[in-house]
Amino acid sequence: MEILFPMQPIGYVQNAYTDAGQIPKGCGAQHKAEGVLQILPEYEQGLTDIEGYSHLYVIWVFDRVEGFDLLWTPPTDNRPHGVFSTRSPRRPNRLGLTVVELIKREGNGLHVRGLDMLDGTPILDIKPYLSSIPQDDLRRGWLGEAEKRANESGKA
Ligand SMILES: C[S@@+](CC[C@H](N)C(=O)[O-])C[C@H]1O[C@@H](n2cnc3c(N)ncnc32)[C@H](O)[C@@H]1O
Repeated sequence: MEILFPMQPIGYVQNAYTDAGQIPKGCGAQHKAEGVLQILPEYEQGLTDIEGYSHLYVIWVFDRVEGFDLLWTPPTDNRPHGVFSTRSPRRPNRLGLTVVELIKREGNGLHVRGLDMLDGTPILDIKPYLSSIPQDDLRRGWLGEAEKRANESGKA
């Protein structure tokens, strides 16, 4: 039995990324790109009090991919990993998740820093970013090991 969860965008990303090749990738990639989360007018009331947060989760759709791969070799490593241990765009449900810094709100536009999605990307939801997990309790899995290897080969 197929169960569907119909969703509609609450808004769209506006930024300078017109091509995936422009978005930084690989070990040490920094996401500093600024842009606007342009929320549709009918949802503007839902932004009430959002200015108090420094960072937000943005849940969005990889609208320019089709299909998925259960194994993927990411640009941060030279070996394949299961899709659910990566941030691959090619996943069974095409959901993207990005933490951005909120610079300011202008009406139904949220000016943010830290975008890694293309211009025009549909936004499904926004939530305040709150992390209570101490840094020392976080494990970085295969990515931590790949970063260590990249650092060591950079030193050689
Ligand atoms: C590695 S994913 C990570 C995205 C998000 N931080 C996450 O973890 O879900 C980012 C890449 O997705 C691709 N991408 C960005 N926006 C996209 C879109 N609207 N449709 C398809 N692919 C997109 C680009 O290649 C970009 O470098």
